[in-house]
Amino acid sequence: EKAGFEHFMMKEIHEQPKAVRDTLNSVLVDGKLDMSAVGFSDEDIKKIDQICIVACGSAYHVGVAAQYVIEDLAQIPVRTELASEFRYRKPLLSKNELVIIVSQSGETADSLAALRLAKEKGIKTLGIVNVVGSSIAREADNVFYTLAGPEIAVATTKAYSTQLIAAYCLAIQFAIVRGTIDEAKYLELIQEMAQLPDKIQKIIEDKERIQWFAAKQVNAKDIFFIGRGLDYAVSLEGSLKMKEISYIHSEAYAAGELKHGTISLIEDGTLVIGVLTQSELYEKTVSNMVECRSRGAYLMGLTTYGNYNIEDTADFTVYIPKTDEHFMTSLAVIPLQLMGYYVSVSKGLDVDKPRNLAKSVTVE
Ligand code: F6R
Repeated sequence: EKAGFEHFMMKEIHEQPKAVRDTLNSVLVDGKLDMSAVGFSDEDIKKIDQICIVACGSAYHVGVAAQYVIEDLAQIPVRTELASEFRYRKPLLSKNELVIIVSQSGETADSLAALRLAKEKGIKTLGIVNVVGSSIAREADNVFYTLAGPEIAVATTKAYSTQLIAAYCLAIQFAIVRGTIDEAKYLELIQEMAQLPDKIQKIIEDKERIQWFAAKQVNAKDIFFIGRGLDYAVSLEGSLKMKEISYIHSEAYAAGELKHGTISLIEDGTLVIGVLTQSELYEKTVSNMVECRSRGAYLMGLTTYGNYNIEDTADFTVYIPKTDEHFMTSLAVIPLQLMGYYVSVSKGLDVDKPRNLAKSVTVE
């Protein structure tokens, strides 16, 4: 059942190109997005005045990335909230708001409660859900099904990747309908998305380099992931993968926020992973990495092919292919998943079933 892989997590990491392709193909007809199954009319899309994305854990991290992508492409204000907070904080929602609930299982108690709260207030809801017929899928007004297939490993990989695709498709569809991108940009974005599966595949093929590096981190006490913008969003996910399966404390920090306190934790040899996929933010994050190095940090840089001057700063580098910068999260997450996996396996831990965790969190 593990199809020759040692663990479900590694099998599911390898299933990502297919999961991403299947999810994308489910809404593509003749090279254009057809979201009729999701059920939004152009009229509905034009009416949306804000979006609130609500989720837990990795699904919340998808929301953090989606916020940047939807705001930038479709010019709709977006906020992303943790379901466990949203449900109790008496959120103010506008009549024409869209509440998007992201959930692999469709059964997460807090996410389901958030959905019900929005519905009680008469707000339109959309579920991005993987499990057909799950509670969130049944109760949401509209559903965008991710086609990741069954995910067994507790730490999500392929569901996260397909949720990103759903978010990109919504962003692009909202953008073309609302006229914030033109037809040429629309087609270009779809073509870029269609190339993501092959690029993900290529990154997975380079896994030995990550394995070699990860094996040296087994005694790490703390690991910091830093980035700005979408690189911050993927840092959140990289950090969660690391701590949940390797039991090494890690934190994700918006790179510019480090000097407001956290940098005091950097000691001789502390691993700091800088994520640099956004060209406008590249130099800014490099400066933050240099600040860490001068406090003794050991630096890994994760960036795109071509940014070879990162080697002046980082002690270890991982290069990934380029895509449209809105979609870089889909590529940057792969080495970070592999890092978490290999650190866990090098420590001899049960990577598929980390202690204290359940696959589906049906209690609040
Ligand atoms: C982390 C992980 C969790 C889930 C979270 C939400 O690897 O898998 O953080 O993302 O529990 O679960 P769903 O998506 O089922 O609502």
